[in-house]
Formats: sequence, C-alpha cells, structure tokens
Amino acid sequence: MKFKEEIDKRRTFGIISHPDAGKTTLTEKLLLFGGAIQVAGAVKSNKIKKTATSDFMEIEKQRGISVATSVMGFEYRNLKVNILDTPGHKDFAEDTYRTLTAVDSVIVVIDVAKGVEEQTEKLVNVCKMRKTPIIVFINKLDREGKDAFDLLDEIELKLGLTVCPMSWPIGMGYDFQGVYSMYEKKLVLFKPHGKQAEEGVVEFNNLYDPALEKYVGERAAKKLREETTMVEEVYPSFDREYYVNSEISPVFFGSAINNFGVRELLDCFVEIAPSPMPRVTEERPIDPNEEQFSGFVFKIHANMDPKHRDRIAFLRVCSGKFERNRNYLHVRQNRKMKFANPTSFMASKKEVIEDAYPGDVVGLYDSGNFKIGDTLTEGEMLHFKGIPSFSPEQFRYVNNADPMKQKQLSKGLDQLMDEGVAQLFTKESSQRKIIGTVGPLQFDVIQYRLEHEYGASVTYEPLSLHKACWITCNDTAALKEFLQRRMQDMARDKDGKWVYLATSAWGLKTVQENHPKVVFHFTSEF
Ligand code: G4P
Repeated sequence: MKFKEEIDKRRTFGIISHPDAGKTTLTEKLLLFGGAIQVAGAVKSNKIKKTATSDFMEIEKQRGISVATSVMGFEYRNLKVNILDTPGHKDFAEDTYRTLTAVDSVIVVIDVAKGVEEQTEKLVNVCKMRKTPIIVFINKLDREGKDAFDLLDEIELKLGLTVCPMSWPIGMGYDFQGVYSMYEKKLVLFKPHGKQAEEGVVEFNNLYDPALEKYVGERAAKKLREETTMVEEVYPSFDREYYVNSEISPVFFGSAINNFGVRELLDCFVEIAPSPMPRVTEERPIDPNEEQFSGFVFKIHANMDPKHRDRIAFLRVCSGKFERNRNYLHVRQNRKMKFANPTSFMASKKEVIEDAYPGDVVGLYDSGNFKIGDTLTEGEMLHFKGIPSFSPEQFRYVNNADPMKQKQLSKGLDQLMDEGVAQLFTKESSQRKIIGTVGPLQFDVIQYRLEHEYGASVTYEPLSLHKACWITCNDTAALKEFLQRRMQDMARDKDGKWVYLATSAWGLKTVQENHPKVVFHFTSEF
C-alpha cells in the first residue's frame, strides 16, 4: 500500500468523560465491533476503578497491566482505528491531558442524567485549546435523564461547543424506543441488551411518512416530527469542514451498555473523523505526508518490577515512516538511537513491529533516555509544541528522610518527573523542593515508587497553595520589581522557568492587578 494511503486510513482518537459516564463501556463496544476483543469485560478488568479510591497499591497493580490497553488498535472497514486510552481517575488527569496531545480527534461521553460534569469540562477545555475535533455521545438513554434540548443547551453553555445533532432520541428511560439518525435518514429501534437486530434499522427518508406511527406509535411520532423540525431550525446542519476545524460538534444519542447507537457512532466516526493531522513544532509545521520521519513521546510507563528499571516510552508518529533498527536522532540529547524491539498495540497483545505510520503509536523500550515531549527525527532539530505541563493543584514540601540516599533520591525524583508523574519546583528563597500534582494520590505513588524502585525515602510537609503559575514579562524593569516584591512566593520549575506560587485565588487576583505587565500562565507552554 502506498504511503499516503496508509496515512489516510488511520483514525487516532481518545474517548474522554467524567468517571462513570460510560467511557469504558463504549470503548469495549467499539473494540467488539472492530473484532479487537471477543468478549465484553476485557477492558473493564484493566480499568482503574475511580470510586474515590485511595487504595493506590491497587492502582499500582492496575498500572502494571494497563500498558496493554494504552493503545487499542483495530481494523474496521479497511481503516485502522487507534483508540488511545485515557485514565478515568481524576488524580491522573495530567496523563489524560498529555494523551490528548497525541490524538487527532476525541469522543466525549456524557451521561444523559448527569449532564456535563466537572471532569468533562476540564478535558474538553484541553481539547479546545488544541482545536481537536470533538464528537459528543450522550449515553444511558435507557435511563431517565435530562430533556435532549436542555442537555444540548447545557453542552453549549458549559463546554462552549456548537452542537450539531446527528441523531435524535425517541423517548427516554422506560419509554425509550430508539433514535432517528438524521445523518443516515434511518430509524434505529431499541431492543434492550441485544445486538441491534437488522430489522431494527429502517430506512426513513421522510418522517412525515405515515408508516412512522407503525413503528413508534402516534404520540412519539408526533413528538419526533416536531422535535426534529425544531432541531433543523435551531442547530447548524452537519458540515465536515466545520467539524474538522473544531467549529461544530456532532452529537449522537445511545446506550453503550445495550450496544445501542454504537455502530451508528462508529460508522459515522470513521467516515468523518480526520486522518492524521499536521502538527506544530517550534521550528515549522509538520505535515504527516512528509517523507522524513518525526514523532514525539507523550507518555512514559515505568516497569512495575524494581529489578527491571526499563520503561516504555509511547511515541506518536507525526510524519514519515518509522522503521525498526534505523538510526534516529534523539533531539534533546542530540544523539542517534535505534530501536530493536518497537512494539505496537494491535488488539490486546503487544507485538514487535517493523514499521509504523503517522497516527500510529509505537512503544519504545527505554532505560531512562526519554522524557515527555522528547522528539525523534531523521536528523532535523525539531521540537514539537503542545505538550504543556498544567498548573498543579496540590502541593507538598518534600524532605529527604535518609541523608545517605541523596543521590538515589535525586535520580528517582528526576526520573519520576520525566515520566510526568508530578512536577517539581524549587523555592527560590530557601531552595526547598516542592512537589505539585493534580491529585493527592500521586504523593503516595511517588513515595512508594521512590522507596521501591530507587531505595530512597521521603517525608512530606503540608503546603497550602492555590496554584503555581508560570510568569513572563516583556518589561525588564517591571519583572525586576515583581521579583523583588514577591520573591518569597517565587520558585523555579525543572527547566529553570519562573513560577509564582499563589496562596489563594483572591491573592492571585490582587497580585495580577498590582502587576499588570506580568503575564500569568496556567500551562507551561506559552
Ligand atoms: P467510565 O469508564 O466512564 O467510568 O464508565 P463505565 O463504562 O465503567 O460505566 C459506568 C457505569 O455505567 C457502569 O455501571 C456501566 O455498566 C454503566 N453504563 C454504561 N453505559 C450504560 C448505559 O448505556 N446504560 C446504563 N443504564 N448504564 C450504563 P457499574 O454498575 O458502575 O459497573 P458494572 O457493575 O456494570 O460493571
């Protein structure tokens, strides 16, 4: 197959949701359609249970096996679909943010009863920052939930998306009869817990055809006609270009657990979702069709076994063809590397691959050479953008509990930070180290891993901070004045960039007002 055809047939995406909306269930149904798994439950068993678990050992165990589900690839209708898994647990949100840098589009799952929840908002914001095309799947229509119009209003308001319904529900919960696919002009009738029977799908070009009553009854037929007319009046009709440019978001309704509406979603997804998109580097845009290979590391997964300190670095191929045993330039280290056992993640098994194309994710065995954001090329000095660190929300001072193990501690902290487990700041005034994370669980993970993988031990001291913001300022005098006045709140990040540690939202606002020339950034990339 020709190079360009290989690229065009790839669809690399992520599924995001607030925990419990049905991400795992939907992933699993998609994999079943793609033949990547044979039985339901295969993905679920790998899932990090999110129910406010504080049992991080359980999470560590899960982490060990979750490599297998990090990337789930399968062939569908002659296309290659790559689903990149995103952790559901909110304490691992930063992992999810980073994975979103490696996808070309996303599907957002929303629970019909709960509507837009906190985690959905955060994740969608990250996608919007990067202009990632978004499809919305409203799930659990077999349950009573919010009115469809109210829900669409909520999505527009809270997520700031312009929605474009592709299907419309007929009833809900007990009365749920199915959906009308406005995209395919088909009536899809609901049968709980079943595979959708072929006779459950009826071509229906004109909803004013009296046959509609026969399928859904008089009342539902009337309502469906009224509502779809309103939909046509209120919402934009589907335009692929707008979707790919992330200006509209197609919306589907269904019930993942009942396998309902999932095939419609998948069929439409593979048709409209973008194939690998160009990527930005500090130097120039990179087109996937370029012959020269380039890619970046978006995730690093450490081995659980302390005797094998190897890790797997996940590399997204951005352009050209990646080949096994070829020399590539590790740009940050400015040295050549080649990989004897690059792995792919088709279905649930890992296997060594000979080559990979833009849109694919390759697992590279690594003994500590990579950190998140690293670039590999055929020789060009490129640095991919859009892999920022996010302002952490939880902070603690970290103390060395065993002075004899200072070296081990530094190495351990360095490597864990390279993996992106947390962020390390050094307070300018005292040179004390501060760890910042997205959720409290990471502190336990870090303490445990430092001890078991590096033989170092740490204690924490509470530190009440609101946010760490990176700062920039074009005016040297204003920057100098700011630093002089706020030095007790200043720290450096791992790259030596200035970070302002705000103790409260109110305090941050006041400081921003007092120093209008200083720009406060909530991600490390600006
Ligand atoms: P997540 O990955 O987004 O966290 O959600 P997950 O798929 O685990 O789904 C959360 C719960 O919602 C699960 O129930 C799942 O069975 C249920 N669910 C998913 N899709 C639907 C749907 O279309 N309709 C209904 N009624 N429920 C749905 P659970 O009780 O937490 O887990 P389990 O015991 O069923 O495994």
